[in-house]
Amino acid sequence: MARLRADIGRHDRLYYERARPEISDAEYDALARELRRLEAKFPDLVRPGSPTQRVAGAPAGPFERVEHRAAMLSLDSVTSAAEVRAFERNVRRGLPVAPGWVVEPKVDGLGIALLYRRGRLVRGATRGDGRVGEDVTRNLRTIPSIPKMLRGPLGNLEELEVRGEVFMPRAAFARLNRELAERGEPPLANPRNAAAGSVRQKDPTVTRRRPLAMFAYQVSHAPGLGAASHWRALAALAAAGFATNPRNRRTHQLGDALAYAEKLKTQRDRLEYDADGVVIKVDDLDQQGRLGATGHHPRWAIALKFPARQATTVIRDIDVQVGKSGVLTPVARLEPVEVGGVVIRNVSLHNEDEIRRKDVRAGDTVLIERVGDVIPYVVQVVTSRRPRGSRPFRFPGRCPACRGLTLRPPGEAYWRCVGSACPAQLKERLRHFASRPAMNIEHLGDAMIAQLVERGLARDVADLYRLSAARLGRLEGFGRKSADNLVRAISLSRRRGLARVLTGLGIRLVGTHVARLLAARYGRLDRLAAASVGELAAIPGVGPAIARSVSRFFADGGNRGALRRLAAAGVSMAEPRTASAGRRFAGKSFVLTGALTGLTRDAAIELLERLGARVTASVSRTTDYVVVGERPGEKLDAAKRLGVPTLAEREFLALVRGRAA
Ligand code: IVH
Repeated sequence: MARLRADIGRHDRLYYERARPEISDAEYDALARELRRLEAKFPDLVRPGSPTQRVAGAPAGPFERVEHRAAMLSLDSVTSAAEVRAFERNVRRGLPVAPGWVVEPKVDGLGIALLYRRGRLVRGATRGDGRVGEDVTRNLRTIPSIPKMLRGPLGNLEELEVRGEVFMPRAAFARLNRELAERGEPPLANPRNAAAGSVRQKDPTVTRRRPLAMFAYQVSHAPGLGAASHWRALAALAAAGFATNPRNRRTHQLGDALAYAEKLKTQRDRLEYDADGVVIKVDDLDQQGRLGATGHHPRWAIALKFPARQATTVIRDIDVQVGKSGVLTPVARLEPVEVGGVVIRNVSLHNEDEIRRKDVRAGDTVLIERVGDVIPYVVQVVTSRRPRGSRPFRFPGRCPACRGLTLRPPGEAYWRCVGSACPAQLKERLRHFASRPAMNIEHLGDAMIAQLVERGLARDVADLYRLSAARLGRLEGFGRKSADNLVRAISLSRRRGLARVLTGLGIRLVGTHVARLLAARYGRLDRLAAASVGELAAIPGVGPAIARSVSRFFADGGNRGALRRLAAAGVSMAEPRTASAGRRFAGKSFVLTGALTGLTRDAAIELLERLGARVTASVSRTTDYVVVGERPGEKLDAAKRLGVPTLAEREFLALVRGRAA
């Protein structure tokens, strides 16, 4: 039991503090289950510090309502520097001396209030309506950056209330959505909703699995703290063990605060969390007190919002698209609308349950949001503007492309077209096969693919290799020269190697990365096809779900036939092995940040992996090199902080070519 406790504790730290889990969730659950089993059997050996005691497993009832020590006010918000100047004039009118300022990113999560007694976390609550919130203490306790015990002088205060923003980092959000998708569950809309939903879970073990963090942004009640300024109070919070935002700045002049806000705005897409603006605060706490508050917001702070990334528009129609494996995806066709600098015409509605949950209908006015480079989505329907006589959307009973039967397997979120000869599926499969990360066949565009399918010239991907320039030249709008080009491009793709073939096959859960892992491990298709689920699952980076999917793919007679036809058409089913002397970077790990100029990111990854290196998404102490391109992001800062060597693009290329010591 002691060993289990220690193991679980270590995995908790890996998962929450370092975001580098070494075991799968299922394995983690098995450890926890085993410990609970033993504890049930030997209750005398249960220790108060046991992981099973830290996170109560039993679901909580509905949350209790709690009244805040002081009302959790809102912020007055503006969108222009001129309005911030007007705010400053008001502030100056209320003060005998000019104030200094603190600028903080306005992190887009949910505000919470934490109550500590003599350094111990006793209560955590949501903002609620500002006066009364919900008691979510058990959930907040699972968030690693919320200290349960305070260090230093703050730990001695009789009572302390701290406010902060709970959020889900973007990378963690993307990871969570990938996991949900793998399990066939609908994706979460955005990091803010994900954070809010996670904090309000009835079962803390669910919250605990959600990668949440908190930045403390205010000491709202601390008799005896004795800090003269907000800036000092933030420093005291950091010293007590809270996370405060490293991008907070103090300035004397408002002009500098505005310049810094402008800078943060340009970095917005590269922050590791969503931020919808900055908060500018009067620094001196006495001055804050003098200025006071309205019933709605303090007079000493203002939010300067970044330009909105939301817009409303009308859904003209809802279409259903057929994917390469027959999955039917409903897509809303919109009145084109600009959101955050991009014109949006279509937005995926994901699946039937999502449509039903939001009750999205053709003709509806909807609120669209696009955050950073994340694809746009429907936040909600503006029901007050729903046209009279509109009807709920109904999923078509037949495939819109082939009129074949559709079904939604029990337990799955998606309807599928089960027609094996569905032209829409075939087009998508060909398109995927020819795409850049897969076989990279130039000149094979959508219009060409449509003709090939409609004229029966391509019934599967292998048929591509049998096309003649003479036949293609007779197609509509297709000259002899372009026919020659296409045939040559197709022919060239024969030698792309196993990893790209695997990527192109569209095996569920197998993208470029996994395809490369599989190709590197087996080298040849026949060896891969013969591998057992257990063997596949043991490959680092593969895991049981992917292993099952791969195994199922190769068990299918139709798939095996298609592979035979591809091989017969002369497509190489082997991965060019780099001689071990050539695998100079075996065991080394690289991280790329910023844009490279001489080669694409994909090409750089492929190059490194061919040389035996691992390319990972985030920098840690075990990273060997960080390759720094133009406009590098946070990863460069992380490298500097952790002392990981960095390489400029030029140095990187020299190293790859073996020209560096
Ligand atoms: S100070 C009385 N600072 O923005 C002052 N708020 O619309 C209270 N927020 O609900 C707010 N980052 O949850 C402050 N650095 C920051 C913030 C921040 C995010 C949220 C907060 C609040 C909302 C105000």
